[in-house]
Amino acid sequence: VAYNTFLNGDFIDISQATVSVLDRGFLFGDSIYEVFPIFNGTTFGTQEHLERLNNSLNAIHLKNPLSGLQLGRIFQELLRETNVETGVIYLQITRGAPAVRSYRVPQQSPPTVLITVMPAPEQTNNTLTAVTLDDQRWQQCHIKTTTLLPNVLAKYTAEQEEADEAIYIRDGYALEGTSSNLFIVIKGSVVTPPLTQNILPGITRKFLLQVLRDQNIPHIEREIKKKELLKADEIWLASSSRDFTPVTILNNKPVGTGKAGPLYEAAYEAFQAFKIDACTEVTADTNELVS
Ligand SMILES: Cc1ncc(COP(=O)(O)O)c(C=O)c1O
Repeated sequence: VAYNTFLNGDFIDISQATVSVLDRGFLFGDSIYEVFPIFNGTTFGTQEHLERLNNSLNAIHLKNPLSGLQLGRIFQELLRETNVETGVIYLQITRGAPAVRSYRVPQQSPPTVLITVMPAPEQTNNTLTAVTLDDQRWQQCHIKTTTLLPNVLAKYTAEQEEADEAIYIRDGYALEGTSSNLFIVIKGSVVTPPLTQNILPGITRKFLLQVLRDQNIPHIEREIKKKELLKADEIWLASSSRDFTPVTILNNKPVGTGKAGPLYEAAYEAFQAFKIDACTEVTADTNELVS
């Protein structure tokens, strides 16, 4: 029987994967997640995603129950079984399901570990529309927690306004999308907000900065005022599930020419080449690790 999911030690189909109603992930959102992109049938940026997973777990005082080697083996098993070429591996670790519902962090509670392969959905558009929205999230947005109600509500508001995405504004500064990092182009230079507790340290963001550096495309990490966002020549949103995508309409007005800009095109092409190189390396490493 084909399986696409690992849950607490068992390989099963997602339809058979169930957790207790006492699970702290369900009751409190006491839980961390990570999304590993699959490109050409292998995970991409694996070390970087593992590092962020461990940072998130440390931030909520939860020990990773699986070693990098164990995770690598599980990933390989799931990729071999599903043959997914493009998509993501979704991983979630909760603080388990102790018998009593209590805010107190339990001393002895085996974590719940879910790892599942999700094929990429059909991509319908190569550009995005967005609206600006007040950031209603908490003050530790650098932790990748499953407590995502503010993101869900922001996305709902965006959809009500017939936009694909919302870009968060806090104290007059533009920060990131509901599930993506923000890059803008002003006067021929790419600008992205610096890493603070107000944004998720995106892995795509990190790789894109590396590509911009390699390509000698002018770029800087600094705060972006809302008014700069509104008059930017280009706006890009970056995330593991779809690299980075130009926003061509913001608040119902065209961004720049209303089409993907020249710096986007240059950076995107270089990013694809970078991914192919990086994937070859990751595959070689993983094989060495597991054999
Ligand atoms: C709030 C937020 N910012 C940024 C990102 C992009 O991060 P990454 O490039 O690591 O996928 C995500 C990804 O889901 C996110 O949820």
